[in-house]
Parts: sequence; structure tokens; C-alpha cells
Amino acid sequence: MRYVIERMTMADLPRITEIEKLAYPTSQWPTSAYRRELQDNNWAHYIVVRDTVIAQRLQAQEGDLTQTAPRRAFPFAFLQPRPQASEAQLQSIVGYAGLWLMVDEAHVTTIATHPSVRRRGLGELLLVALIDIGYEIGARWMTLEVRVSNEPAKALYHKYGFKIVSTRPRYYSDNNEDAYIMWTDEITTPAYRQMFAEHKTALFERLKQESTVAG
Ligand SMILES: CC(C)(COP(=O)(O)OP(=O)(O)OC[C@H]1O[C@@H](n2cnc3c(N)ncnc32)[C@H](O)[C@@H]1OP(=O)(O)O)[C@@H](O)C(=O)NCCC(=O)NCCS
Repeated sequence: MRYVIERMTMADLPRITEIEKLAYPTSQWPTSAYRRELQDNNWAHYIVVRDTVIAQRLQAQEGDLTQTAPRRAFPFAFLQPRPQASEAQLQSIVGYAGLWLMVDEAHVTTIATHPSVRRRGLGELLLVALIDIGYEIGARWMTLEVRVSNEPAKALYHKYGFKIVSTRPRYYSDNNEDAYIMWTDEITTPAYRQMFAEHKTALFERLKQESTVAG
């Protein structure tokens, strides 16, 4: 398949910050918040979606970067190099998402795709990957907050069985907008598993076809 899900790493953060500014123009998380999440939060799981076609195209342009990595001069020569990603590795990231596990509840903290790739199923792919992580780590429910005006996100969550359970008034400080708090039913029930499997199969079929068309 053209798109792959990977764990987010520190080296990805410049690109995450870039997409974050576009996805949340009025209320971004600073890069330091993501750094803390990756370094210090044992209950957090962050992923990225990578477009392998973009990665291959840019890699071909870049050539073999390992040959050109600059050496550190004495006295820093003994230090491990900082994790750095090539331009191809960074630019091929087209979305990201994360969750925290609290006991048996998986709280979705963020989900965003680059505006240039919207409506191609990648937001859905990220949500599917988060729910799969939820299963792996023993979550029984998924929950999140969403701006009451965020129609694309609400539609995505609704598709995967999230329901509005309550409202948190003036939750977003940039414009005092209310948040809906959404919860799934228990994700371990046969009914949820079946709904999830059906949507996931349809999504993978769609993405496979798009990959074939894209070559
Ligand atoms: C929400 C977001 C992640 C969706 O990403 P995307 O890649 O465009 O989503 P997909 O193409 O995978 O769409 C999946 C489903 O979401 C819903 N959806 C997505 N965009 C929609 C839109 N503009 N209008 C209505 N429904 C939409 C649909 O139900 C769609 O399913 P369908 O393809 O069967 O119609 C994206 O709009 C985004 O990054 N927004 C900015 C950040 C944000 O608001 N995140 C949510 C915070 S709570």
C-alpha cells in the first residue's frame, strides 16, 4: 500500500510542527509538548502516516544522504549525532495522531492530516490505527473532545461509533468555543469489532485501489 503507519519519533517533530500550524491555525501544541509526550509520557502513543511515493521520489532526488552526513569536530566527535531525518523522510509524513491510555480508556489527543491530502482516507487510516493500538494496549473505550463546529472531524468520529455524550462549555481558549465530549461504546464488544472490521476493510480496499492508480 502507498501509505504506511509508523511510530512518531523525535526526528519527525519539525514536520509535525509544520502540519500542526496548518491543521490547528489558532491553537497549536508547541514542539516542546510533542517532545515531552514522546520522551516522558509512558501512556502516550503517537503515530505518523507516511506517503511512500513522496518518500521514494524525494529520496531519488536527494541521493545517498548517509555519505554526506557532516562529522562533528573534536571535542564533540564522540557524541552520538542528534536524530535527524532527511528531507524525504520529513516531507513524506502527511499526517499524525496520538492517544493516551488512562486505565482502560484511550483518549485521542490529536489527529491531523496535511491540507493537501485531505479527503483521501488518511484521517480515517490514522483513526483506525489508533483504535488498533487501543485494542493492543487493553483499552475498552475510546474518547475525545472536538470543537462543536468541526464538521469533518465529527463526521469521521461518528463513522467509527463515537457519540456525543456531553458538552464542555468554552473549552477552547482561543475563541471560547464549546467542546463535545465523544465516546465509543465498548470497543471489545462483537458489535463494535464487526463495525470496525467492515469500515477498515472498505478503507484498505479504497487505499489499495488509489495506490494502484497512483502507480
Ligand atoms: C479531521 C481530519 C483529520 C480528517 O482528515 P481527512 O484525511 O480529510 O479524512 P478522511 O479523508 O480520512 O475522511 C474520513 C471521514 O471523515 C469524514 N470527513 C472528512 N472530511 C470531511 C469533510 N470535509 N466534510 C464532511 N465529512 C468529512 C467523512 O466521514 C469521511 O469518510 P468518507 O470518506 O467515507 O466520507 C482533517 O480534516 C484535519 O486534519 N483537520 C484539522 C485538524 C482537526 O481538526 N483534527 C481533529 C481535532 S478533534
